[in-house]
Amino acid sequence: MQTVTTLPELWANRKAFSGTVGLVPTMGFLHAGHLSLVRQAKAECDHVVVSIFVNPTQFGPSEDLDAYPRDLPHDLALLEEAGVDLVWTPTPEVMYPQGFQTWVEVEEVTRPLEGGMRPGHFRGVTTIVAKLFTGVQPDKAFFGQKDAQQVVVIKQMTRDLNFPIKIVVCPIRREPDGLAMSSRNTYLDPAQREAATVLSRSLIAARTAFESGERDADKLCAIVAEMITAEPLAELQYVSCAHPQTLTELETVDEDGALLSMAVYVGKTRLIDNFLLGGTE
Ligand code: PAJ
Repeated sequence: MQTVTTLPELWANRKAFSGTVGLVPTMGFLHAGHLSLVRQAKAECDHVVVSIFVNPTQFGPSEDLDAYPRDLPHDLALLEEAGVDLVWTPTPEVMYPQGFQTWVEVEEVTRPLEGGMRPGHFRGVTTIVAKLFTGVQPDKAFFGQKDAQQVVVIKQMTRDLNFPIKIVVCPIRREPDGLAMSSRNTYLDPAQREAATVLSRSLIAARTAFESGERDADKLCAIVAEMITAEPLAELQYVSCAHPQTLTELETVDEDGALLSMAVYVGKTRLIDNFLLGGTE
């Protein structure tokens, strides 16, 4: 496994690959969720490139950029063991050279949900992912359904900018008690960690109602909201029942299905989770 930082090193290694290349973009502090993307990339591509870069432009001024967990030696050991060919760990100076002033901005699908709560977040995500795509030139790129809106936004950007890259979406990996794996879970103390299971429990309750025939979006959201509100250590920021492709809020879930998603504060830690209900995708 090669680890490179600069663009010339990246390009030289990329050129040496024959066959298909899969890219797994990450911000590091890797867990089994990230590694499931790597496994999928290994299964579908001849070579796998993983990028590790804590992208400053996708963090808001009051967010956790400085505190964001980092452990590069551990990440590299995990990736080596997973059989990755190339790890790209660019510096902020490589990705945002002096005088940087070019941004990639996706419009409508970035406005609701996470985009509404985190102004500028998706502009940072699309700009960095476009730069990772340009640098690595992969055939396929792998993203987790954990960040459901991110997937919709990246697919839109890939279509709009004609990137010749297939976006592959991988399912959410969860802890045995249902908590979606996240680098941010390390912020939780034991009581908060226990309380955090309310996210997936509330999604299961709403899915059970959906499976019993409930199609009223407000009622599905209310099931989630009531359970979160009943947990003293959790504070609901939003719950949404939206169209899975356009992300517009639904009144009634139809044959396209729905993305049921939420953001919840447990202490100072902001957690997100979602289920796709029905639909064909
Ligand atoms: P990061 O949060 O490190 O996540 C990297 C990838 O891992 C994302 O595609 C994310 O959806 C996926 N992932 C995280 N937790 C997961 C889980 N429990 N199950 C399955 N997949 C999971 O997302 C980012 O980084 C950044 O926004 C990035 C795309 C790298 C751009 O900076």
